Amino acid sequence: MTTKSGIVTPTALSAMEILDSRGRPTVHVELQVAGETTFTAQVPSGASTGSGEAVELRDGDPARFDGKGVLDAVDHVNGAIRDALVDRSFADQADLDQALIELDGTPNKSRLGANAIVGVSMAAARAFASGAGHSLWATLAVGAARLPVPHFNVVNGGAHAPNPLDFQEFMIAPVGSPSYAEAVRAGAEVYGRLRARLAAAGHATGLGDEGGFAPDLARPDEVLEILVAAIEDAGYRTGVDGVAIALDPAASEFGSGGRYTVAGQAWTTNDLIDYYEELIDRFPIWSIEDGLGEDDATGWQQLTGRLGERVQLVGDDNFVTNPQIIEKAIADGIANAALIKVNQIGTVTETLTAMSLCRGAGYGAMVSHRSGETPDAFIADLAVGSGCGQLKSGAPARGERVAKYNRILQIAAQHRELDYGLG
Ligand code: PGA
Ligand code: ZN
Repeated sequence: MTTKSGIVTPTALSAMEILDSRGRPTVHVELQVAGETTFTAQVPSGASTGSGEAVELRDGDPARFDGKGVLDAVDHVNGAIRDALVDRSFADQADLDQALIELDGTPNKSRLGANAIVGVSMAAARAFASGAGHSLWATLAVGAARLPVPHFNVVNGGAHAPNPLDFQEFMIAPVGSPSYAEAVRAGAEVYGRLRARLAAAGHATGLGDEGGFAPDLARPDEVLEILVAAIEDAGYRTGVDGVAIALDPAASEFGSGGRYTVAGQAWTTNDLIDYYEELIDRFPIWSIEDGLGEDDATGWQQLTGRLGERVQLVGDDNFVTNPQIIEKAIADGIANAALIKVNQIGTVTETLTAMSLCRGAGYGAMVSHRSGETPDAFIADLAVGSGCGQLKSGAPARGERVAKYNRILQIAAQHRELDYGLG
């Protein structure tokens, strides 16, 4: 065995190009240790990316997949990364991730590609877990493990759907459910009632990239009215003692320099904060992610000052799961929670560091999928093991989305000792 006392010695490593849920190429990694055990990982990909994200390497050859091929990233796994890792022993995840970071040698993983590096890092996490005789989630600890509140994205707009809706994500969060399984049930039931309401109102019920409906509506408050009605139709209380609402406007996509355009109206940062306040007064919203653009740091401080006591304010595009950036944001009084995407920073170790920082500062952390996904349910284990209490993985529909929710159903069934909820 090469995984004796937690040590992992890869004996083979390879990658290939596969498709993600949007029909775009992504990276599949296979890492083998002695005894012929193979551990795999598949890499997700965003559409509304933060400018500071670790670099996803795309070939840029217009003759293949409109330039979106990932053969260079695949070659880096099959070449430089394999040469550096195979037959070398690693004491733990941090040791292996450090080797990847040093091999890349750039601050943003642009040489080998974050899509190459993160796939290897995730596959290695599975090898370390197996070597230690643990489930993956048990090796991804930050605080005490718990079952997270699923945040189901049931209405899609912005960069994820071709409708006129500027806000990107309208999520339902069954915060008050008595168990994880009941939360999944609530999400699916509300989703069904929402489909019926939209259809009755003459809206198309086609789906956006994350499995939510994409109705031809422009005004966020109109969507929220229908959403509240759907929650009530399904027989649930609205709010944190039942089913609450979370938003990800992804404001970098509809504004810059403190100027925003929502439903055709031109707004300042202040106007937009006023609008959020109005929405919080009218609707059972408990969390707002990327309420302002990634370049609007002073606006973020105002937003946090005005609404930070009332709702969770999550940084995504501005934080990009980067421990250094999150540390500075905490010092600057920006937001009170961070979105956590493994491929935004590029290694499992740096992801766990970002989550530890949040925990230490009293900031929330929400583990997240990307709009381009695969059936790989790594983030389900991360959400449980880290104990952060929150996961967003799209709608309670579409295979690549429910793969994560279903993985946690499995963990919940096998580990009845785990608590459910925000924590
Ligand atoms: P992305 O969107 O995966 O397209 O970046 C998700 C998000 O903004 O949270
Ligand atoms: Zn976001």
